[in-house]
Amino acid sequence: MQAPTTRRHALTLAAATLAGLAAPAMAQDNVFKIGLILPMTGQQATTGRQIEAAARLYMAQNGDTVAGKKVQLIVKDDTSLPDQTRRLAQELIVGEKVNVLAGMGITPSAMAVAPLATQSKTPLVVMAAATSSITEASPFVVRTSFTLPQASVALADWAPANGVKTVVSLVSDYGPGIDAEKFFNARMVNNGAKVIESLRVPMRNPDFAPFLQKVRDLKPDALFVFVPSGAGAAVMKQFAERGMDKAGIRLIATGDVTDDDQLNDMGDVALGVVTSHHYSAAHPSDMNKKFVDAFQKANKGLRPNFMAVGGYDGMRVIYEALKSTKGAGGGETLLNAMKGQIFESPRGKIYIDAQTRDIVQDVYLRKVERKDGQLWNVEFDAVKEVKDPGKTKK
Ligand code: DHB
Repeated sequence: MQAPTTRRHALTLAAATLAGLAAPAMAQDNVFKIGLILPMTGQQATTGRQIEAAARLYMAQNGDTVAGKKVQLIVKDDTSLPDQTRRLAQELIVGEKVNVLAGMGITPSAMAVAPLATQSKTPLVVMAAATSSITEASPFVVRTSFTLPQASVALADWAPANGVKTVVSLVSDYGPGIDAEKFFNARMVNNGAKVIESLRVPMRNPDFAPFLQKVRDLKPDALFVFVPSGAGAAVMKQFAERGMDKAGIRLIATGDVTDDDQLNDMGDVALGVVTSHHYSAAHPSDMNKKFVDAFQKANKGLRPNFMAVGGYDGMRVIYEALKSTKGAGGGETLLNAMKGQIFESPRGKIYIDAQTRDIVQDVYLRKVERKDGQLWNVEFDAVKEVKDPGKTKK
């Protein structure tokens, strides 16, 4: 009489123990974690704000259940310090067991995390950083932003044909700036123009005044500028204060300078500035109009910039990879499902090159114009399906 009860008790206990152990594991299995590391404070805070807003918009529009898994977005602020980015990535990989790492506001952050992505076989979706070599730092990197060689070359083809025979370049002194300087200047020379001087300003807390004074003295037809997102308004302001435009020096730049996050507050000095870039909030497609409307509605009127589109498309790449692997694949399988994706983005048609894992996209020439009382980067020409020139030149 005793035995069955005891046995039943033991069985019940065993079942409870099993259930107890299995519960967290099962919950874990049904969750798909994206560790999104961004600069939410400090000099690059607008990059973090734009990308987080875009990622949340993508999830609001596409749901948070994909292939039977609950998608969980874990946002961490690295304050744009690469040591912090590395520490946070480590915690997310080991502690949270994230399925994907994403974000990466600046090149040094992406470079700091790349070796961890390789070791842990975690796909790393780079949504902002734009130095050409980042995709070569780990076979687990997939990029949805752009590269500076990609953006610069189109402008260097346009400028000499439009009256710019002499130029001075002024770039932030780190990866993307050095890429911009190298590819823009070489292409200008190739096109018969003269590069009078190449100037580099510190990446952190730059004072543009002494550099701009030098440019004024050198009197080139144009000043070519690259500074990271968030620094463009300061360049524009000091360019105006020094009377550079009145001295007949034109400002040309990559679209990081006439950043949609700040453009509307830059004032008349920005009017007529020609830039080349992969995204303008004024891109005249139906998909972009819907994207800009939805983004502004969800973010108190904030206009999305090129960082937002990198974040939005990065989420698309992750979602589709999860769908096509039916929620089963992690690591390398998930990575492989990101390669070769081709789709329409708010910026136009894009694809992830399966060999390089880098983005291939149209690069637009744009001019700042006022429309309905607001300043916009209005596209007037496009170079189709530009692959990163930084890869083929090596
Ligand atoms: C990078 C950062 C930026 O804000 C930008 O506009 C372009 C490149 C970077 O660090 O790679």
